[in-house]
Amino acid sequence: MIQYTDELKEEIRSANDIVDVVSQYVTLKRSGRNFFGLCPFHKEKSPSFSVSPDRQYFHCFGCHKGGDVFTFISEIERISFKEALEFLAERARIELPVSQNSEFNKNQYLKDKMYKINAETAIFYHERLYKPLAKIAQEYVKQRKLDNKTLKAFKIGYSGEYNELYKNLKAKGFKDEEILATGLVNKNNNGEYIDRFRKRLMFPIMDVSGRVVAFGGRKLENNEKLAKYINSNENLIYSKKKHLFAMNLAKQSTSKKIILVEGYMDAISLYQRGFDNVVASLGTALTEEQGRLLRKYCEQVILSYDSDGAGQEAIMRGLSILENQGCDARVLQMDGAKDPDEYVIKYGSGRFKLLIDNAISLVEFKIKMIKNKYNIENSSDKIRFLKEITKILSEVENKIEREIYIEKISENYNISKEAIYAEVNKEVYDVKSSEKILLRPIAKKEKQTEINPITIKRENMVIYLLINYFKESYEPIVTNISPDDFKLEQNKFIFEKILNSTAEESEKIVQSLANIEDSEIQSHISEILVTDYEISSVDKCIEDVVNTYNKERLTNRKNEIVKQLENISDSTSEKKSELENELNNIIIELAKRK
Ligand code: GTP
Ligand code: MN
Repeated sequence: MIQYTDELKEEIRSANDIVDVVSQYVTLKRSGRNFFGLCPFHKEKSPSFSVSPDRQYFHCFGCHKGGDVFTFISEIERISFKEALEFLAERARIELPVSQNSEFNKNQYLKDKMYKINAETAIFYHERLYKPLAKIAQEYVKQRKLDNKTLKAFKIGYSGEYNELYKNLKAKGFKDEEILATGLVNKNNNGEYIDRFRKRLMFPIMDVSGRVVAFGGRKLENNEKLAKYINSNENLIYSKKKHLFAMNLAKQSTSKKIILVEGYMDAISLYQRGFDNVVASLGTALTEEQGRLLRKYCEQVILSYDSDGAGQEAIMRGLSILENQGCDARVLQMDGAKDPDEYVIKYGSGRFKLLIDNAISLVEFKIKMIKNKYNIENSSDKIRFLKEITKILSEVENKIEREIYIEKISENYNISKEAIYAEVNKEVYDVKSSEKILLRPIAKKEKQTEINPITIKRENMVIYLLINYFKESYEPIVTNISPDDFKLEQNKFIFEKILNSTAEESEKIVQSLANIEDSEIQSHISEILVTDYEISSVDKCIEDVVNTYNKERLTNRKNEIVKQLENISDSTSEKKSELENELNNIIIELAKRK
């Protein structure tokens, strides 16, 4: 394992402005010194996610995640800190040192070869599609109405027989172990190398940046025994839960929506008919990783699954994955065709565009599903229907949104608005009160000793001053405030960290704090760094803070002495007069400070 030096880390940090980096995932708007947006780490409707360009930190006042640019990338891409560093080095085109024999580099080398093999293979299959021996494939693409521009855009191809690919790759100088690692060729029991994909129509699967990571192959023969599709197995560079077919093309679209379909052919067919914002999940249910990828490149996802294919469960799961990531997710309702490919061919792209515009939300989808269970003409069914949708409506947090749904339902299903409101209000009220009972003991358990928020604010201010105005504040603060004065554990830790560090200017202090790994402390640091304290006079502020601490200390000592004096009965004791003296001095000191 290579350890990267602090200098290199700083070089990478300063080459990746946090506002630029975050902007690739979140729409940010400037307000005062900071930028704000909707938090990508939790579901929210109004922005509590803040980025400070001055301090190069982010913090969410809702979910309390926070940190520097490395933390952000490691959280959002769900990768380790080290991988985040490598990710950002690549983004800034900074070369990382390589040590020849490390495991990491061996892997890197093999991965690099695998990308090359996949790229060569895509070309091999694609060129082969145009040869006379590919007649069956040529006829098939014609029958599926794919034009040449589309074949080129997706690098669609035709795979060889027996071991044609293997021989070709060997001729290009690739080693057996490298070829086997891609899964494009397998070794059989007799030690022969045989191509995995034979006589199939080939679809290269590319990652976001357009590198070929895997292939899917459709059978062309009318042979029941063959699987309709076979895909590359997962390997070093391909994980099917992370990739989306055609994402490399869709990300270039100017549309803010992405249409999510199930099959290769659906994506390709829609693309050819003018929808450049389509991706396919390739038959599997949408994963969290794919959801994040979608969120990165669009604001709205339209689930456009086959009309018979995916069950409602899969659709609902997909919708909630997307919604939890702050994405507006909708379901397209399709009748008269089994999948989007068949639909556009049959009814044209104009009609499909209409379906997109009329796609419904998760709430509407759930209600529709419930509706299908009942016969609303029947009044007892109607009551059951109303009961079930009430539950769903009461979970809609936004009041205006809820009102819109109620209007729609009232109209569509012929139920009076008042009746729906009455039920919903009952439910909302009930849920709220049962939540209260549930929440109280949990909240208490988390905060064992309540610390006065004003105290926390003041402590935060001390840290803020030390970070931002080190030269002015260091002397007065360390001479008057000690680590034990801090009530909040995190503040005490940060305070000690600053005192023990050799850093003497804001930038350096922030860097040394960024290296703390404890996420609770990081969250607290980021909160302090992105809060705008609006200080008009630094000196006055330092004086005030220091004064407050001193006054508090004196007052505490005063109370202590008074208590001790009450317990001393011997009026001539030396101890007593000593304490009385001290008390007098404290009273004079406190009077001066008033
Ligand atoms: P066509 O039948 O050619 O129109 O393809 P399609 O893309 O419409 O396929 P379909 O709707 O049947 O399936 C959706 C996706 O599921 C496909 O694109 C494949 O990725 C995947 N899939 C379908 N059948 C198989 C199979 O037999 N094996 C595997 N591994 N995947 C399949
Ligand atoms: Mn199809």
